[in-house]
Amino acid sequence: MQTKTMPQLNELYREIILEHYRKPCGREPLDKVDYHAEGTNPLCGDEVKIGLQIKNNKIEKVYTEGHGCSISIASGSILADILRGKTLEEAKKISEYLKCTMQWKNNNFCDDVGDLRALEGVKKFPVRIKCALLPWTTFEEALMGHDRIEIS
Ligand code: FES
Repeated sequence: MQTKTMPQLNELYREIILEHYRKPCGREPLDKVDYHAEGTNPLCGDEVKIGLQIKNNKIEKVYTEGHGCSISIASGSILADILRGKTLEEAKKISEYLKCTMQWKNNNFCDDVGDLRALEGVKKFPVRIKCALLPWTTFEEALMGHDRIEIS
């Protein structure tokens, strides 16, 4: 079982993450769901649900819900906050940004990432990388039409 305590992150970023954890964005259920998936981290059993409402190739509304550690909940909240109004292409690019960040790869191709920068420090804690990626991997799987995934 992984520890669910917060890793030692930069103080400002830590506050941003805790704020998203305490008051997560995207908790309002959608009246229409175009893409949906549930993701699980099999190591800890934490789960996240992602629902998307699309209009004219843009993400009009995002629903996220789940139970998990502060990092996974905050990451889902940031996802809901940042993806609203984005085209699907822009959203995939932002998701790619986070994956590259966690793998210490070049992430300079994307500037418009808002509070997602607060998760950058998580890459120093390999055991927590899955926590940060869980909502985003679930989001990508939802776009591919997969209902349920386990991240590996
Ligand atoms: Fe389970 Fe973070 S400890 S997703």
